[in-house]
Amino acid sequence: MVLWGTDNLKREGGPIAQALALMGTRARFDSFGRLAGAELIPLEELGRPRIDVMMTVSGIFRDLLPLQTKLLAEAAYLAAMADEPADRNFIRLHAQAYAAQNDVDMETAALRVFSNADGAYGSNVNNLIESGAWTDEQELAETFVKRKSFAYGREGKPVAQEALMKSILAETDLAYQNLDSVEVGVTTVDHYFDTLGGISRTVAGAKGEAVPVYIGDQTSGDAKVRTLEEQVSLETRTRMLNPKWYDALLEHGYEGVRQIETHVTNTLGWSATTGQVDGWVYKQLTETFMLDEELRDRMAALNPTASAKLANRLLEAHERNYWTPDEETLEALRRAGEELEDKLEGIGVEEVAA
Ligand code: BEZ
Ligand code: MG
Repeated sequence: MVLWGTDNLKREGGPIAQALALMGTRARFDSFGRLAGAELIPLEELGRPRIDVMMTVSGIFRDLLPLQTKLLAEAAYLAAMADEPADRNFIRLHAQAYAAQNDVDMETAALRVFSNADGAYGSNVNNLIESGAWTDEQELAETFVKRKSFAYGREGKPVAQEALMKSILAETDLAYQNLDSVEVGVTTVDHYFDTLGGISRTVAGAKGEAVPVYIGDQTSGDAKVRTLEEQVSLETRTRMLNPKWYDALLEHGYEGVRQIETHVTNTLGWSATTGQVDGWVYKQLTETFMLDEELRDRMAALNPTASAKLANRLLEAHERNYWTPDEETLEALRRAGEELEDKLEGIGVEEVAA
């Protein structure tokens, strides 16, 4: 589970409660009603096994919610230490196995809350995607692990635990994050693929196969869980391919074009980290923004730099095998890209002006 600070602040700790509930734990309050730590829900009351949850918390979560960081660490520790059958307590099962194989104590083997080192934020996967300066998806996983493999235990102090993190991820069955708000989608900002995408790619590398990635959406009353593929498709249809949406953005001038380009780059970020973006997404983005001459010219006039970048990003997505355009589409996209580059370099501008 990826946990952010803002979604927990807005939802009174709802995502924290999801993690606690999966582990079969809950918050413990002292006699004055103050939050004092975690406690186990007895197995008889729980009626199902305790689920092993690895939590990657953002740097912002760590800074804003230090007590909750310790609370989650305590919950995992209590579960690992509970004298319960292995088939009813997967945290204990996995922690005991790790402790035995690596000759470490249970305090270490039960660490489940990971974040950045003190003072650091993000996984840098977003910066790699932005620069395009990477060749193999495994590089994204390695970058993620370097940044996010600091475990926060019951004392709330980070300790580098790369091997433990990889060992947990090698056994992970799915990755999950809640949507933070209705305005900001998983393709709006680069932080979602930086965190949830980064962890998904790291699981795939450690496990040798991709796992399902889910987004929990409680922004509109009813709770809905979508696969990442569904979420990206939904956002692409309702925002990127919706003339009402992009027209309104373009009314903001150069910044609107930049935001459209950002969505496409973030979409590529999801392909790179999860491989779970449908090919039609790139095809329709190409048709809408690059093959419609009128829209392309309008965007190029507002922001030639972002327009050329958009064309190159769609070509990059093809070169990295995230979609396969037919020959005609590819040729048209290449031509559009060259024309935009020329505009950017000022070639042919005078002829156009004349
Ligand atoms: C957070 O609240 O934890 C967060 C917000 C935006 C981007 C990344 C993290
Ligand atoms: Mg950025």
